[in-house]
Amino acid sequence: MCGIIGYIGNKAAEPILIKGLKKMEYRGYDSAGLCLANNGKLLTIKRKGEVNELEKAIKNEKIKESKYNIGIAHTRWATHGSPSKINAHPHLDSENKIAIVHNGIIENYDSLKEILKKDKVKLRSETDSEIIAHLISKFYKGNLKEAVKKTVKLIEGSYGLAVIDKQANKIIATRNSSPLVIGVGKNETFVASDPLALMSETKKIIYLKDKQLAEINGKDFVIEDYIGNEVDFEIIELKLEAAQIEKGNYKHFMLKEIFDQPQSLRNLLAGRLKDEEIKLSLNLKNKKWRRIILCACGTSWHSCLIGKHFIEKYTNIPVEVDYASEFRYRNPVVGKNDLFIAVSQSGETADTLAALREANLKGADSLGIVNVVGSTISREVNSGVYLHAGPEIGVASTKAFSSQVLAFLLLSLYLQQEKGEKLDKKTIKEIKRLPQLVEEVLKTNQQIKKIAKKFNSINNFLYLGRGINFPVALEGALKLKEISYIHAEGYPAAEIKHGPIALIDKDLPSLFLATKDELLEKIISNMQEIKARGGKIITIANEKRKELIELSDYVVYVPKTTTELAGIVNSIPLQLLAYHTADLKNLNVDRPRNLAKSVTVE
Ligand code: F6R
Repeated sequence: MCGIIGYIGNKAAEPILIKGLKKMEYRGYDSAGLCLANNGKLLTIKRKGEVNELEKAIKNEKIKESKYNIGIAHTRWATHGSPSKINAHPHLDSENKIAIVHNGIIENYDSLKEILKKDKVKLRSETDSEIIAHLISKFYKGNLKEAVKKTVKLIEGSYGLAVIDKQANKIIATRNSSPLVIGVGKNETFVASDPLALMSETKKIIYLKDKQLAEINGKDFVIEDYIGNEVDFEIIELKLEAAQIEKGNYKHFMLKEIFDQPQSLRNLLAGRLKDEEIKLSLNLKNKKWRRIILCACGTSWHSCLIGKHFIEKYTNIPVEVDYASEFRYRNPVVGKNDLFIAVSQSGETADTLAALREANLKGADSLGIVNVVGSTISREVNSGVYLHAGPEIGVASTKAFSSQVLAFLLLSLYLQQEKGEKLDKKTIKEIKRLPQLVEEVLKTNQQIKKIAKKFNSINNFLYLGRGINFPVALEGALKLKEISYIHAEGYPAAEIKHGPIALIDKDLPSLFLATKDELLEKIISNMQEIKARGGKIITIANEKRKELIELSDYVVYVPKTTTELAGIVNSIPLQLLAYHTADLKNLNVDRPRNLAKSVTVE
């Protein structure tokens, strides 16, 4: 999704901005631009397509780098208006004296446009963002900060905003429901929507809160609210190493992140599983909830479906799983007797954040299962479990998913332990063994690549499972469709005879999750239903059963484990299958079309 970076200091701004934009490429974008300011002049360059295109355009301009010590830059992921040079940010006012970059959506765009129409302002682009530049210009009476304040007070919607003017002596940055951080350097200051963009410049970060505004002049900065009161802030030291956001020897980030999983799961377990005890430092209001609500989007929602199995099993508390986008607009019945769990890799997903705010407002206890440290969701929950999976750069979530599932298992066992019940030794032993099990299952990589070769020209795919393996099937299907553009559906295996079985023929392969659990016999019957209709079958199994082998065209064997941990182990061959299928089709695995890594608009 859109990315913002801004710089003011004593160095040349342009290379820093370009480097920052490149670090945010993983988020998904379709155009890029920057605006540099020098006393009395703004220089704006924008391009459709990759940051490389922008870089080439800048080279052609033959910029004297040393002249420009202040600038803002942006990668755009189109919402209002198609991807194009004109719609790319920064946007300027009619007199080219003010430039803005904006992430988010302006909901009252039409009414704000009317104000500008009366002033006979001609809009150059189709974007909602451009009006911000014109409104600031309208209110500008020599004080940029005051003009920005007047403008944002009119805006309904979400924004992360960085603004410069041609006086070239400050950046004004502010946010509402869209992430923005200030990076603190020595005689230089940065603004970014993603701390990763600043990794090679500074690790000292301040997370701006909603409706806070920063005035930055390179040497110094002030953060205040919209009334003008200075606010306290905390400078946080990012604990990230540059190598964590490099691909290393892997062809793609996604493949690296799939192979990171033994380590990312170890990171999650570190300090949280001691001897036979689960150690989580949670600050929950009470533990006698009448209900637990799990809320998320996409892959994180799939992890919630598995989480429901764990929580209900170990705590006996009823669990509901909701799509954040549905929950937030339903006027949901939620209150102080409920625990609301928001699950998000990025911690910035707009719908999940809005759902959390709704639950908090109605008095629910809240907990976050989040990967990105310091993200908005992690700061707005009462309590939380960080995944510590490290940065996930590939758009398709892999290591965050396995960590979310493990976090749910630890949380469920922790809640059981808090009730004074003894934990099942076998489960604890298996959790400790999990990183090794994942190392083992990763050895199926080459076999799966061969299977991907057989199926990569297929147009449709079914993923079938039961119990915990049903959400695994949903997740496998999502992985395949999002990066290989093959239509795939996940289904509860028993449900196919209620409709989808009509689709089965030799061109619709089914992937069955048929590892040993109490539902295996039932799954075998479902496989027979498919085979009888001429469907091809790929099976994920953990024992060499005659019927499974006879019914399957291909069998991938994964290590044996408990039903709970099978959710993680079984999802890994599906990640690999999606990866190899997309790679064999020469697709952009890490940045699939139309997708963004962190969905900060609803
Ligand atoms: C799919 C994927 C998305 C995300 C979803 C939620 O591979 O990554 O479906 O899971 O956009 O994102 P987070 O977890 O950041 O809230």
